[in-house]
Amino acid sequence: MKVGIVGWRGMVGSVLLQRMVEEGDFNTGIEPVFFSTSQAGQPAPMNAGTLKSADDIEELKKLDIIVTCQGGDYTKAVHPELRKQGWQGYWIDAASTLRMEPNAVIILDPVNRNVIDAALAKGQKDFIGGNCTVSLMLMALGGLFRAGLVEWLTSMTYQAASGAGAPNMRELLSQMGTLHGSVADLLKNPSSAILDIDRDVTATLRGDALPTKEFGFPLAGSVLPWIDREVEDGQSREEWKGFAETNKILGTTTPIPVDGICVRVGAMRCHSQALTIKLNKDVPLGDIEELIKNDNQWVKFVPNTKADTLADLTPAAVSGLLTVPIGRVRKMKMGPQYMQAFTCGDQLLWGAAEPLRRMLRILVE
Ligand code: HSE
Repeated sequence: MKVGIVGWRGMVGSVLLQRMVEEGDFNTGIEPVFFSTSQAGQPAPMNAGTLKSADDIEELKKLDIIVTCQGGDYTKAVHPELRKQGWQGYWIDAASTLRMEPNAVIILDPVNRNVIDAALAKGQKDFIGGNCTVSLMLMALGGLFRAGLVEWLTSMTYQAASGAGAPNMRELLSQMGTLHGSVADLLKNPSSAILDIDRDVTATLRGDALPTKEFGFPLAGSVLPWIDREVEDGQSREEWKGFAETNKILGTTTPIPVDGICVRVGAMRCHSQALTIKLNKDVPLGDIEELIKNDNQWVKFVPNTKADTLADLTPAAVSGLLTVPIGRVRKMKMGPQYMQAFTCGDQLLWGAAEPLRRMLRILVE
C-alpha cells in the first residue's frame, strides 16, 4: 500500500509520526510517501526518498491511502479535486471539514469499530478524526454509552491551549512569563501585600504588554468561555460538535442530547471535562464503575478521593499519555439517575493523532 502523509511537520502531524514510529506502523509493509506544501524535492523523513508537492494531484492519485494533518483549507482544496478525478483511495484526515459529510465516518475505533467496519463493508473511503473533546469524552465514557445508559449529558470543558494551535501554546507561556515579570520584585519580598501584587497583575492583564496576538485576550490568569466561531442558538461551534459528532460516532438512531459550555483554560495539551449525566435508569455506582473501567484498555477509573483525584486526574498527570482517566464519579443530589464525572485526556493523542494511525492500521492489516 502506498500511503501519502501530508502535514507531518505540524504539531498533530509530528505527534502522529512519533506514534507511528513507536508502534512500528512503518514496518507493516506500507510504502510511505511524504508530501510538503513548501519543500518538495528535499529529503523525506524515514529515508523515504524525496518530498513530493502536496498540491500535485497526479502524484496524490497514485496513492492507496492519504493521511493528512495539513488542516481544513488543504482538505477543502484537494479532496474534492481528487474525488472528481476518480481517485478511489482512502482519505484519513484530522481536519473537521468532511466530518459531517454523509459518506464520511468519524473514526474512534475503540468506541465505534462497528461503525467503521460497516462503512468499510459498504465501500466508504473517507475516515475523519473527531473533535478532541468529543473523542476524549467517548474514550472515558464508552462503557456507559455502549450499555445504552445515557439519556443525556452535559459537558463543561476545560480545554488546553494546544487545541487552538502551537503558536497559542507559546503565547500562553509568554503571557505567564509577562504576568510573573510584572510582579517579580514584589514576589521576592515575602512581606509584600498580596493586594498590591494582584493590582499589578490585573493591570498587566488589561494592559498592552501582554502578548495576545493568537488568543486575542489574556488566557494566563484568566479563562476564555468561547471556543471557535458563533453558530446558532447561542452556541459556539465547539459546543455544537458535542451533539453532532457524539451521535455520528456512535451511529445512534435516536440522538442522545449532548450540550454544555466549552472553555479555554491555561493548560498545555490536555482537555478536561466536567460531566453531568442523566442515566435512563438507576444503576448502582459499583456497576457504573465496572462498565466504565472495562470498556477499553486506555480508560482508567480514578477512585473518588481527594488524594487519587489530585494525583491522577489533572493535565499535569496525563500530558503525553494515552491513558484517559475518569473520576469524581458519584450520584448527584438531583436524584439516583443523575451522576457526575470528571475526565482529562491528552488532546494531541486520543484527541487527534491516535485515531488516525489506528485507522491506517485497520486498512493495512
Ligand atoms: N477544537 C479543539 C479546540 C481542538 O479548540 O480545543 C481540536 O479538536
